Amino acid sequence: MKTKGRLYGIGVGPGDPELLTLKALRLLQAAPVVAYQSATNRESVARAIVAPYLTGNQIEVPFHLPRALEPETAEAIYDREVAPIAEHLAAGRDVVVLCEGDPFFYGSFMYVFTRLSEQYETEVVPGVSSLMACPVALGVPFTYYNDILTVLPAPMPAEALTTQLLTTDAAAIIKLGRHFTKVRDILHQLGLASRARYIERATTARQRIVSLDEVDPAEVPYFSMIIIPTKMRL
Ligand SMILES: C[S@@+](CC[C@H](N)C(=O)[O-])C[C@H]1O[C@@H](n2cnc3c(N)ncnc32)[C@H](O)[C@@H]1O
Repeated sequence: MKTKGRLYGIGVGPGDPELLTLKALRLLQAAPVVAYQSATNRESVARAIVAPYLTGNQIEVPFHLPRALEPETAEAIYDREVAPIAEHLAAGRDVVVLCEGDPFFYGSFMYVFTRLSEQYETEVVPGVSSLMACPVALGVPFTYYNDILTVLPAPMPAEALTTQLLTTDAAAIIKLGRHFTKVRDILHQLGLASRARYIERATTARQRIVSLDEVDPAEVPYFSMIIIPTKMRL
């Protein structure tokens, strides 16, 4: 007899509900419990993506893992937020945890995984990551042959960003938000601004593509990215 539930971490893709995998859809619709990251008073991005597929009979478990916390504070909060998921698993109910994009590419699911995967049988389903979706939405071939691709979180110090950008062929700069001006200035200094492409909310109904100089730094959403495609062309 099954005594514990199974934990599933499923990637729900970058925004377009049609970019969910068949496997993620099957597991989502079979699960009695669906959990997702949801900031206080804001709709969960991951839940909104799968909303057309929810059965209406599922228990929903929102959790909130605030960003930019000191590690000691974060640990206690994350333990507390993940606890309701563990309670469902302990009671024998399978839980699907939704994760925007891919679960293991800077995904919120990793904080659930590190806490519960040793105790409960766990399966992780990859998703279409924003790293793949943004260059396609922009229509820019990203990397060829032996190009080096570097993913750079915008909160990094300016010197470190500069060093990395000088040594890579192509780059994706994520988590822009309030760091946009710093990144744009570095790209201008390095002569990369004309090659850089900006996109927000890729693949959603609110997708927006504008040139770097048209971006209002005060309005840059968290779900935005700068892509610097490789120079190679054949
Ligand atoms: C914490 S990471 C999560 C990445 C996610 N797991 C994935 O695979 O796409 C969040 C960052 O991914 C990027 N991102 C995610 N979805 C996006 C989208 N639809 N459009 C543009 N950027 C996106 C943004 O740079 C955002 O700051």
